[in-house]
Amino acid sequence: INTVIFESSEVASKAAAAEIATLIRKKQDAKEMCVLGLATGSSPKRLYAELVRLHREEGLSFKNVITFNLDEYYPMEPDAIQSYVRFMKELLFNHIDIDPKNYHIPDGMLSKEDIADYCKKFEAKIDALGGIDLQILGIGGNGHIGFNESGSLPNSKTRLVTLDHITRVAASKDFQGLYSTPKTAITIGIKQIMEAKQVILFAWGEGKSNIINQAVEGPITQQVPASYLQDHPNAVFVTDKGASSLLT
Ligand code: F6R
Repeated sequence: INTVIFESSEVASKAAAAEIATLIRKKQDAKEMCVLGLATGSSPKRLYAELVRLHREEGLSFKNVITFNLDEYYPMEPDAIQSYVRFMKELLFNHIDIDPKNYHIPDGMLSKEDIADYCKKFEAKIDALGGIDLQILGIGGNGHIGFNESGSLPNSKTRLVTLDHITRVAASKDFQGLYSTPKTAITIGIKQIMEAKQVILFAWGEGKSNIINQAVEGPITQQVPASYLQDHPNAVFVTDKGASSLLT
């Protein structure tokens, strides 16, 4: 995997935003839609702030952009404080000119028996568009990408998953404790992530250095799903110095 180490997450996020803007404009020139895979969590927050700035100050339009978010807690109401729908609207979608019909976030309100069918259709929609042009990822302390926790297989599909204890502990600060933190989520599978034409994974801070080291330099293993990206033809890990401090 190509790892690019930046001075700070701010500089790194701006560089990534510039790359995304170039891709969106290239697709505009070709009269094509640009399909982006998006993540939530703290890692892409500066990226979204910069994309909003590029829209406001530099006229970057998102009219030709279609997005698919990786995941959503289940169950989750879309207007709950912790929902990824709310996160994406507040940090990005409400501030740019994307057509609301063009963003997709897994539905946290489905009834259980509808989930499998919904996930199939979610994937089919992505496939019908020719797949994801560029996928943004963060990485969990256990090496998860999306909510593909340790043990997720390379051919795993979009599905309902049980969250790891360590993932729930990390999330519990947003849910006023572990007791009220969801136990499950809907996530895009490893297969779809690996099929993205380009992948950019963000990791900031020393707290991520151990798992970054395992994902980049360790064996490709289901224990660390981010290690699958070693086999991706066009994946880059974008880090700050802290997150890369254990790389040799
Ligand atoms: C979020 C997601 C997760 C996060 C990961 C890192 O949509 O899919 O895999 O990217 O848990 O979270 P942060 O960025 O908060 O450290």
